[in-house]
Amino acid sequence: MLTKTKIAVLVSGGGTNLQALIDAEKSGIIKSGEISLVLSNKADAYALTRAENAGIATAVVEKKTCADKVEFETRIIECLENNGIELVILAGFMCILSENFISHFEKRIINVHPSLIPSFCGEGFYGLRVHEAALSYGVKVTGATVHFVNEIPDGGEIIMQKAVEILDGDTPEILQKRVMEQAEWIMLPKAAELVSKKIAEEKEQN
Ligand code: GAR
Repeated sequence: MLTKTKIAVLVSGGGTNLQALIDAEKSGIIKSGEISLVLSNKADAYALTRAENAGIATAVVEKKTCADKVEFETRIIECLENNGIELVILAGFMCILSENFISHFEKRIINVHPSLIPSFCGEGFYGLRVHEAALSYGVKVTGATVHFVNEIPDGGEIIMQKAVEILDGDTPEILQKRVMEQAEWIMLPKAAELVSKKIAEEKEQN
C-alpha cells in the first residue's frame, strides 16, 4: 500500500472547499492523501473551526504580525516543512505567493479558481469579484478551474475544469454558489486525489 501524501490546505475565509476536501477524505474519494494541516492567514476564518471539528491541526500566520511579505512566507514555509507537507492546496487562500515560495513546492501547490481560466483570472480576480466580472461581461457559461500554481497568478498548468451555466437573474452570490456546488466542491477533491496519488507513487519509486 502507498504511503499517503501529507496535505496542507491554505485558507482565508469560510472554507466550503476545505469542507468538501474533509468530506471527500472521509468518504474515500481522497484515498492517497491525508489532510494533516489547515493554515489560515486570518485568525477568525471559519475554515479553522471546520478543521478543528474534523480533528485536523491548524495554524495561523497573519501578515500584520510579520515585518514584510518575506517573513510572512518564511513562517508559512517553516510551518509546512515542520509538518512534513508534500502537497499544498490553496482553497480560498487570498494571497498571491512569490516565486521563492513556489520554488519550495515546485508542482506541489494546487489552487481552485472560480472561472474558466484564462477568463476572469489573474491579479485582482478573487472571490465574488470573479463572478461580478463574468456577469458584467455577459458570458453565458462560466465554471471553475483547478491548476498547479506557478509564478504567474492563475497561470499554472490546468489540471481540471468544469463549465457551469449562467442563468437569467443571476447575482454574483447566486452564481458563486452554483459554481461551488456544480464545479469546485466536486472537482477539487478529485484533483487532490489525482495529485496525491502521483506524489505517493513517485515516493514509492524513489
Ligand atoms: C472559492 O470560490 C474559491 O474558488 C475562491 O474563493 C472562494 C473561497 O470559498 N478563490 C479565489 O477566488 C482564488 N483566486 P471557500 O472559503 O468557501 O472555499
